[in-house]
Formats: sequence, C-alpha cells, structure tokens
Amino acid sequence: MKEYGKNPELSYNSYLKVPELIKLQETLSEPTSHDEHLFIIIHQTYELWFKQILHEVDASIGWLGEGRIFRANHALRAVTAIEKVLVSQIHILESMAQIGFLEFRDRLNPASGFQSMQFRELEFVSGAKDEKILNFFKFDEFAHQRLIERFNSPTLADAVWKILGEKGYDVSTEENRVKTIVQILTHPEDDHDLFILQDLLIEHDENIALWRYHHVLMVERMLGMKRGTGGSEGAGYLRTTLSKKFFPEIWEARTHLQLVGN
Ligand code: HEM
Repeated sequence: MKEYGKNPELSYNSYLKVPELIKLQETLSEPTSHDEHLFIIIHQTYELWFKQILHEVDASIGWLGEGRIFRANHALRAVTAIEKVLVSQIHILESMAQIGFLEFRDRLNPASGFQSMQFRELEFVSGAKDEKILNFFKFDEFAHQRLIERFNSPTLADAVWKILGEKGYDVSTEENRVKTIVQILTHPEDDHDLFILQDLLIEHDENIALWRYHHVLMVERMLGMKRGTGGSEGAGYLRTTLSKKFFPEIWEARTHLQLVGN
C-alpha cells in the first residue's frame, strides 16, 4: 500500500473532481443575492440524486429482464432510500426567506423545474409517459434526444408485468393485473421476492407523490398563487399533478384484498 500522500495522481479531491464541482454554482443576481447560492446547490443536488435513481432504475429493469428479482429489489431499495432524502430536502428550501427569493427570482425567467430533463426521465422510465412533455423540450436538443429515447424504451412497469407474465400470471388486462397483485398480497410467503417487489414499487410511487405534495406546499409558502417562471399557473398547475401514479393496479389491488381461509 502506498504511503498516505505519496501518490499525488490520486486524491479525494482529484477522484471526486471537487475543484470542478465547487465551481459549478454560477449565480445570476447582481450584486449576488445570498440565497441564490442555496437555490443552485439544492437543485444541483436533486439532479445528482435523479442521476443515481435513473442508474438504479435502469439496472433494475435489466435485472428483471434476466429474471433476477432479488437483485432488482436491491436496486429499488436504494431508489426508495434516496427518494426519502429528496422529500426531506424540500425543507431546506423552506428555510430561505421569501423576500430573499424575490431578489433573484425574476432573473430565472423562463427557466423552471418543469424543464428538469432527469425528472421527466424518471417519470417516463417509471411508467408515466406523456408525449406532450416532449414538445416542451424541442428547443433543448440534448434533453429532447434523451427523452425521445426514454419514450421509446421499455419502462419499469413494462419489466414488472413482463416478468409476472413469465411467472405464469395473467397480466393481459388491467383487471387481471390487479388480480395478480391481489394474489401476491394474499400469499406473501409463496414468492416473497414478488411480495417485496410490489411493496418497493408502491413505495416508489408514494415517495414521488410525497415529493410532489411537499414541493407544491413549499411553492405556496414561497409564492402563494403567483405564476411560475416556467409560465404555468404555479401552485394551481402543480396541484393537478398530485394524483399521478406509476402503478395504479398495485394501488387498486388494496381495495380488492380480502382475508382468505387457510
Ligand atoms: C423556491 C423553490 C421553488 C419554487 C418556487 C418552485 C416553483 C415551481 C413552479 C411554480 C412550478 C410549475 C412550473 C412553472 O410554471 O414554473 C415548478 C415545477 C417543478 N419544479 Fe419547482 N420550484 C422550486 C424548487 C424546486 C426544486 C428544488 C426542484 C428539484 C428538482 C424542483 C423541481 C420541479 C419540477 C420537477 C417541476 C415540474 C413538476 C411537474 O410538472 O409535475 N423545484 N416549480
């Protein structure tokens, strides 16, 4: 083992590119508004976590395709753990003074979280594909290409129903998919990997819904009912997104679950 400090090619800072990383926060306000730093850091942190979530979801789709449910569950466990951090991170933004935000908010026009490419990728890859979203990215070639690719690729939901089909369940209609989940919930010990899989998927759905809810409340706390920098109605628009679900069948199965005799 090399003596500490004697291998100058590799260090913590060089491996993690820390000098480059801490130069990436370029404020727009003049003179620089104190809170803009926090605003940039928090968004960049979200984007890094979105990248990691996409990495884990893509891997889990691959593992489900190989029939490796245990391994896919492991990756989905990481996804749900990260998402819990994403939900709680919203509170950091709530520490920002509303008036401090207004010091730089107008400079952000027309940029908006609405254009977060990786958030849209996460929606698409989870199973909620909306072709209309693609139009909003037409002027951002990089993002547009990535989203088109995601739009045309199989989703986590596709991979889940495919493997359940291969395991002999009838997943040909929505009703049958609900029945399949009821069957798994009724007999958790018959195939515990499948039981854990559906549990992680509903948790993923719930975490994103919680994020949406915390985000809209934070937006109302900051802006009331002002319009968004992206041009939407702001909180009014965001409230319309709260009921989005990636796995409606897994939620609906709870309604049909009944106790069965041994
Ligand atoms: C002071 C902080 C924030 C405010 C005031 C705010 C405000 C808004 C508003 C008003 C919208 C609606 C679109 C528009 O017209 O602009 C929106 C959308 C969005 N924001 Fe934020 N936001 C904030 C922080 C964040 C953070 C930290 C993230 C993390 C990535 C984020 C991600 C998003 C996403 C993904 C959307 C699109 C949601 C959808 O269409 O379902 N926002 N935001």
